[in-house]
Amino acid sequence: MTIRSRISGIGKYVPERVLTNFDLEKLVNTSDTWIQERTGVRERHIAADDETASSMGILAAQQALAQAEVSPDDLDLIIAATTSPDGMFPAIASRIQDGLGANHAGAFDINAACVGFLSALATASQFIATGTYQRILVIGSEVLSRIIDWNDRNTCVLFGDGAGAVVLEAAEQGGPLSFVLHSDGSGASSLYAHGPCSAPNGLEADGYFISMDGRRIFKFAVQAMESAIREAIDKAGLDLSDVDLMIPHQANLRIIKATAKALGLPPERAMINVDRYGNTSSASIPMALREAWEQDRLHEGDRLAMVTFGGGLVWGAMIFEWSAVGPVRPKAAPVHATTASGS
Ligand code: ACO
Repeated sequence: MTIRSRISGIGKYVPERVLTNFDLEKLVNTSDTWIQERTGVRERHIAADDETASSMGILAAQQALAQAEVSPDDLDLIIAATTSPDGMFPAIASRIQDGLGANHAGAFDINAACVGFLSALATASQFIATGTYQRILVIGSEVLSRIIDWNDRNTCVLFGDGAGAVVLEAAEQGGPLSFVLHSDGSGASSLYAHGPCSAPNGLEADGYFISMDGRRIFKFAVQAMESAIREAIDKAGLDLSDVDLMIPHQANLRIIKATAKALGLPPERAMINVDRYGNTSSASIPMALREAWEQDRLHEGDRLAMVTFGGGLVWGAMIFEWSAVGPVRPKAAPVHATTASGS
C-alpha cells in the first residue's frame, strides 16, 4: 500500500533589506508604474552580504521544524532546491544539514530552476510513499540578486531573494494526490544563467547573469501552467472545480491571472504575494504556502494546485490534499460512561 504524506511544518525567511520599485528607478530606466502594471511587483527583498542560499535555508527550515515539532535529529533526508547555491558544491542541503545539526539525514540539491521546489517535494513524497523514509525536510532557497545584471531593466525588476521550507512526514491521509513534471530543453536559450559553472570560460562568458526572452516566456508560462494543472487534475481523478486554492509560482501577476482565467478559476482562488517578493524562483511556492497558512487559507481536506514553470524550459503541477500542520497527536482513548470496575 502506498504511504501518504503530509506537510507538518512550513517556514519562510526573507532578508531584511527591501528594494522598492522607486529604488530601481534610480538604477535603470524604469518606473514604479511600468513595473506594477507589467508584473504586479512593488518590492523585493535582497540578501545581505553575509547571507547565502544555505544560511537563509537554515532559517526557513528552523521555522518549519518548530511548527512540526520535529527535531533536526529526527530528519531522514534534506532536499534543497536552488539555482543560486553557495558554490558548485557541496550541496546547500549538506550545509543546511550541518547548520541544523541534522545528524542522521542524507542531503542533496535539486536544480530545476523555478520548478525546483515542486520537483523536490515530488521526490520527497516518493521516498515516503515507498516506506524508505518517514521525515524529510524540503527547502527552496535563492539569492537571485547575485545572478542578476543590475543594469538590465528587462530582468532586474523581476527577481528577489528568499527561502521557504516544509517538513514532509508519513501520514495516513492527505499529501500529493498527483503530480506532473515536464521539460523541453530545446527552449534553454530563452531563459538561462551560465555561470558560475564548469563550461569552458564559464565565468567570463556572456550570460553569467539571468538572461531571458520575456515575451516568449510569458506565453509559454500561461500555456504550460494551464496544461500542467489540467493534466494533474485528470491524474488525480478530480475536476477543476475541486481546486480550493491554486499556489502558483510567483513570477508575474499577469501570468497568474491569465492562468486562473484560462482554467476558469475565480481570481480569489489563487494565492498571490509576488507584489512583496518578486520572483524568488524555487523559494516562491513554499513562501506562498507559508503565507497562505498565516492567512488561514489552508483547511483540512482542501485540494491545493501547486503549479510552476521556469528555465529549462521546465514546468509542472501537483495536486495536494491539505491536512493540519503540527505534530501528529496520538488518537484520544475512547471515552466510556463507566470504567471497567463499574465505579
Ligand atoms: N521598465 C520600463 N520599460 C521596460 C522595462 C522596465 N523594467 N523592461 C522592458 N521594458 C520595455 C521594453 O524595452 C519594451 O520597449 P519597446 O516596446 O520600446 O521595445 C516595452 O517595455 C515592452 O516590453 P515587453 O517585453 O513587451 O513587455 P511585457 O509586457 O512582455 O513585460 C515582462 C515584460 C515583465 C518581462 C514579461 O514579458 C514577463 O513577465 N515575462 C515572463 C518573465 C518570467 O516569468 N520569467 C520567469 C523566470 S523563472 C526562472 O526560471 C528564473
